Amino acid sequence: EKAEIGLIGLGVMGSNLALNIAEKGHPVAVFNRTTSRTGEFFEAAGNLREMIVPCTTLQDLAASIRPPRAIIIMVAAGQAVDEQIAALRSVLSDGDIVIDAGNANFRDTIRRFSELKDSGLTFIGMGVSGGEEGARHGPSIMVGGPRDAYARVEKVLTDISAKYEGEPCAAWLGPDGAGHFVKTIHNGIEYADMQMIAEIYGVLRDGLGMQPKEIGAVFDEWNKGRLNSYLIEITGKVLAADDPQTGKPMVDMILDRAGQKGTGKWSAIEAQTLGVSATAIEAAVSARILSSLKDERLAAEKAYAISDLPKFSGDRQAILRDLELALFAGKIAAYAQGFAVMDAASKQFDWRLPMPTIAKIWRAGCIIRSQFLGTLAEAFQQSGTLPNLLMAPAFIDMMKEAHPSLRRILARAAEAGLPMPAMSSALAYFDSYRQGRGTSNLIQAQRDFFGAHGFERIDAKGAFHGPWGDSG
Ligand code: 6PG
Repeated sequence: EKAEIGLIGLGVMGSNLALNIAEKGHPVAVFNRTTSRTGEFFEAAGNLREMIVPCTTLQDLAASIRPPRAIIIMVAAGQAVDEQIAALRSVLSDGDIVIDAGNANFRDTIRRFSELKDSGLTFIGMGVSGGEEGARHGPSIMVGGPRDAYARVEKVLTDISAKYEGEPCAAWLGPDGAGHFVKTIHNGIEYADMQMIAEIYGVLRDGLGMQPKEIGAVFDEWNKGRLNSYLIEITGKVLAADDPQTGKPMVDMILDRAGQKGTGKWSAIEAQTLGVSATAIEAAVSARILSSLKDERLAAEKAYAISDLPKFSGDRQAILRDLELALFAGKIAAYAQGFAVMDAASKQFDWRLPMPTIAKIWRAGCIIRSQFLGTLAEAFQQSGTLPNLLMAPAFIDMMKEAHPSLRRILARAAEAGLPMPAMSSALAYFDSYRQGRGTSNLIQAQRDFFGAHGFERIDAKGAFHGPWGDSG
């Protein structure tokens, strides 16, 4: 009996995906470049072994899968993917499907798609979110590629995906790079969510002087309300954990220098390229960059020696309630930005991205899964297309309730010297967006003054110049 699907790359994510596929009753042929790993994986697979075909060569792998073959590649994004595709070409036949499940840059996915098409193979770029647990028990799966190729793997992918009230969190989203683009924006939003949570943690720790376990309890409490989400849940758990070595709170023993592998940065870059404002995501990427300058920050802290700033004081319950709503307001702005970026990309690349479906398949399995995404999916269903999420009636109501808290928290944080870059940019975005008469009239005047760039008038059509005369 032939395997339904193949999988290359038995690292943590690949192994877990393979076990997930096997567990859902689909025979899977697996291959790893270091063949000893394939043996180890197979040995450890227990009673799932009967659904797994371990292969030591790519010929073997190809021969083990029913044609047209579908093979998932789960290796490090970048050159390893190109090398793996090149190696596969000689063992595959016309109509076979290669699926890249890594965090690829969607521009690479578009290139690989057209390169493979010329050689008769089909390429699918598939975003997979949910970390190790998700891969093993149900990730969110974002597919880009030819729709008929998706039909070949749809059953396997929906079977292994997370389910939200029974609905699979896997979907075909559009051609070529669509899936990987959506995954990239998922990660951009993930960066913003994480950064805003960290900013709130900063207020609780440095503004209110709370201990990790107390802060964890606050997040646990918030997880029961409107902020209910995987990231809030794990934040509570992280803050409750102790370091086995020292017995101190684990979070206090971790260096404040954040890593990043590229997807957040790509979101910010693509937003700029598309001409979409995604400031909360940009601020989150930027915050990770500044976090990496540990030595410089320590030196600057000494150089400025600022110590007499006012702390957060007053009714703690009221402050906690404001923090919860402030975080919610920031979240709304960040998601509005992320969806605006996807909307622009959809038009630019003619992908016709189904926004309601994207919101739906993010409701379970992925890292940003939350109650909020349920609300978001409903908003799309009720409003159809929207210029911006901030204009969905449900979001107008939520933002009206939450933005005063965001203002109060940011004002006090500024006075206390606590940085809240993502939350501040979220508020600035909101205030800029909801301001009918902005200040760019002055920028237009300046541009016209020094460069004769011309401006539009409020009372007539056409291009005009100002009375700058010789001073211009
Ligand atoms: C997910 C995660 C996953 C990975 C991130 C981490 O959706 O499951 O986003 O893809 O953990 O890529 O990215 P950084 O290393 O850049 O934080």
